[in-house]
Amino acid sequence: MNLIKALLNERLSNETAEFQLTELRASLTPNSDPALLEAMGVFCFHHEYVLAGEREADGLLDSCYRPIPSPIPGADRLNHVQYYEPQIEAGLVPVILSTPDTPVRAQYEENPYPRWWGDLQAIPSPNDKSKKLIAGCGTGRQAIIQALSAPESGIVALDLSRRSLQFAMREAQDRGVTNVQWVQGDILDLCDLGQRFDQIQCAGVLHHMPSPGTGLTALADVLEDGGSIKVSVYTQRSIDDLGPGREIARNYPPTPEGIRAFRQEIFRFPTTHPARDLTTRAEFYTVSECRDLVFHAQEQGFTFQKLGELADSAGLQIEWVYAVADAASLFRERFPEATGVEMEKWADLETTHPHLFGRMHQIVLGCR
Ligand SMILES: C[S@@+](CC[C@H](N)C(=O)[O-])C[C@H]1O[C@@H](n2cnc3c(N)ncnc32)[C@H](O)[C@@H]1O
Repeated sequence: MNLIKALLNERLSNETAEFQLTELRASLTPNSDPALLEAMGVFCFHHEYVLAGEREADGLLDSCYRPIPSPIPGADRLNHVQYYEPQIEAGLVPVILSTPDTPVRAQYEENPYPRWWGDLQAIPSPNDKSKKLIAGCGTGRQAIIQALSAPESGIVALDLSRRSLQFAMREAQDRGVTNVQWVQGDILDLCDLGQRFDQIQCAGVLHHMPSPGTGLTALADVLEDGGSIKVSVYTQRSIDDLGPGREIARNYPPTPEGIRAFRQEIFRFPTTHPARDLTTRAEFYTVSECRDLVFHAQEQGFTFQKLGELADSAGLQIEWVYAVADAASLFRERFPEATGVEMEKWADLETTHPHLFGRMHQIVLGCR
């Protein structure tokens, strides 16, 4: 029972569990417990059939290897996830602002990111009537959390990828969210929307734009006076750490088959191989997130110095730097008189403690 519950709800995130589940799936037969077959089918769909191994089968067992072509009587949960939800998504239409033909858009049309499921944690803010923009909203998790937290606020959630938006719109519909306008378009075309925002959030997006500075300027152009922009971008260190994995990934096409074969090669490396570290990352365990991690069409990392230059290029000032507790206390220790937004001081700390800042730099920017 616990196994079935885990298959339906949990995310795969480690190598041992992957091997055990691969073996379990290979041991299933058409006569296995239907509840277990159904849960395995849901699990495999959620993880985009990342487990190694092919098999011809029918019915519930087949759903563990590929999505079902038609509903299976009595398998309500499986039918919902593998058949009805994709059908509903295909019929949803966002507002169209622009549809540029770029490699980054192509990637996220093929692999909406991230696929998510399960409960969301809203933080009730009933008096929040602000106008918010989620720029590069992907599959909508952040926008839906904001919408549920502040039902009186007006949210625009924009992304290049129509398929990501369709996933988001279906999740929003399921949760009764009505205060989000879903827009397909490029951040660079935001002015054409004719709207301005009190708060803008842009997580994991600017580092995928050809010119992050131009992207941030486009966000600044639609910011209300006194408003703020929260930005997260990759640290340069995280880009460097992924180098060995990316080097191996170059030998594979960024297709589901290519990504599956790449993962198996990584598993075969000795634990001392520098690319082996990938298996410790949660993103390694779904096809789309693995693609995002090491097969990306376009990305760059940021040091604090580069973040300062980014803010300057958009005519914005940095108002807040998010730092994990260790980084914050080291900063205070080394610079007791600092206000906390001096990029040259953070850059100094980053040079001596390059691993302190993890995967993302997060900052809040405001008008000068
Ligand atoms: C790594 S995902 C991040 C998604 C989401 N913000 C999150 O944190 O889960 C990057 C998203 O940015 C979108 N994106 C990239 N460049 C964009 C642009 N110029 N305009 C709008 N969206 C863009 C992609 O389509 C993709 O959905």
